[in-house]
Amino acid sequence: MGRCPECGAWNSFTEVVAMPRVGPGAVAVEMASLEGEEEPRLPLGMGELDRVLGGGLVVGSVVLIGGDPGVGKSTLLLQAAASVAARGLPALYVSGEESARQVKMRAQRLGVAGRGLFILAETQLEAALAQAEAVRPSLVVVDSIQTIYSQEVPQAPGSVIQVRHCTLELMRWAKVHGIPVIIVGHVTKEGEIAGPKLVEHVVDVVLYMEGERYSSYRLLRGVKNRFGSVAEVGVLEMRDEGLVEVENPSALFLSGRAPDGVGSAVVATMEGTRPLLVEIQALTSPSFAPVPRRTGNGVDPGRLIVVTAVLSRRLGFPLGKQDIIVSAVGGLKVTEPAADLAMALAIASSYRDRPLPGDLVVMAEVGLSGELRYVPHLERRLAEAQRLGFTKAIVPKSSIRRGMPQAIEVLPAATLREAISWALAKA
Ligand SMILES: Nc1ncnc2c1ncn2[C@@H]1O[C@H](COP(=O)(O)OP(=O)(O)OP(=O)(O)O)[C@@H](O)[C@H]1O
Ligand SMILES: [Mg+2]
Repeated sequence: MGRCPECGAWNSFTEVVAMPRVGPGAVAVEMASLEGEEEPRLPLGMGELDRVLGGGLVVGSVVLIGGDPGVGKSTLLLQAAASVAARGLPALYVSGEESARQVKMRAQRLGVAGRGLFILAETQLEAALAQAEAVRPSLVVVDSIQTIYSQEVPQAPGSVIQVRHCTLELMRWAKVHGIPVIIVGHVTKEGEIAGPKLVEHVVDVVLYMEGERYSSYRLLRGVKNRFGSVAEVGVLEMRDEGLVEVENPSALFLSGRAPDGVGSAVVATMEGTRPLLVEIQALTSPSFAPVPRRTGNGVDPGRLIVVTAVLSRRLGFPLGKQDIIVSAVGGLKVTEPAADLAMALAIASSYRDRPLPGDLVVMAEVGLSGELRYVPHLERRLAEAQRLGFTKAIVPKSSIRRGMPQAIEVLPAATLREAISWALAKA
């Protein structure tokens, strides 16, 4: 039908084929009679990836990994597939974007042997699944879902209908064969996996791989996980030889830090359940622009404006004619409000040209009237700071609970004013 008799829109009809019912329908079972065994898992042999998955891939599950172009999705999955293959479990890597030779070249650069690792340069779903059935792998990687098409759908690869159909087919295939499938999904300009949210609902696990353009660190973040927590974060570093696990991320984000530097504060932030110490740097300089600039790299620009406004209005810092640049060092994004205090101290230190103590770690949200607000997981943050040799901490008074281990000299501060005068006097 060309025109919808209901709303008058042209060419709005899409053909939908009614699914015939195959076999008898399912039977309802009483929950108590079901066995509640742990799902068997296939560890991928890459600690940070396994950690985000909740201890490896659940057999028969489908995982979607999204990320910006060039962030390292193919690299990560080639390494994971090779690691599985190296344990004597064949793995199949279906590449719709690169030829088998290109994949081989990457494998050589990464130094993976390739025994038991099968490469298939194919974009047709049915053909790929036929190959998968021939190889009988323990793991299938599909790179990427946007390049794969099914012959049962007339749309172009990458279209919503095609992406959705192929994902559903892969889900069905994974469940039937008990073989886990990892799908790569490209992220659109809007930051969503192309072929939008639809795909995320279908699959079991959604992970995002993040990284700043000029930084070599990559974060793997769980967005959805039917078999584990989404609070876990994996930290990897992109090197010539591929992605390397970062076992001590805090030490890494602090490396290269000038001790007692002016305009530098360290925040103990939480990435999921993991405390991470990150240096926040600030530079204030007289502005020649009609409207002074506030630039935040790796910090929340909204929080930066709040912190600057509080410093000006509540504490009398004349920042109205100053450009302010604030950066989270190491290419990490620190968007947690707990980083407010570190931003404020770094700005105050830069403006006054006075250093902060090199062994000071801070964590607090700054409220609009200059009060320091509660941050969760204080013990975990302090423990990580202590492990890295920090001896002083400023925390919000409201976060202090009785009986908290205090191996670090802790200043419970109620206001930003208190925190700044203490910190600048201590150095
Ligand atoms: N010869 C090389 N030496 C070091 N690093 C390299 C080299 N070639 C590529 N890289 C790194 O690998 C990244 C590309 O990785 P990869 O192809 O896995 O990304 P991707 O997420 O799959 O990208 P796409 O979205 O294009 O498929 C590059 O951005 C670069 O950081
Ligand atoms: Mg790729």
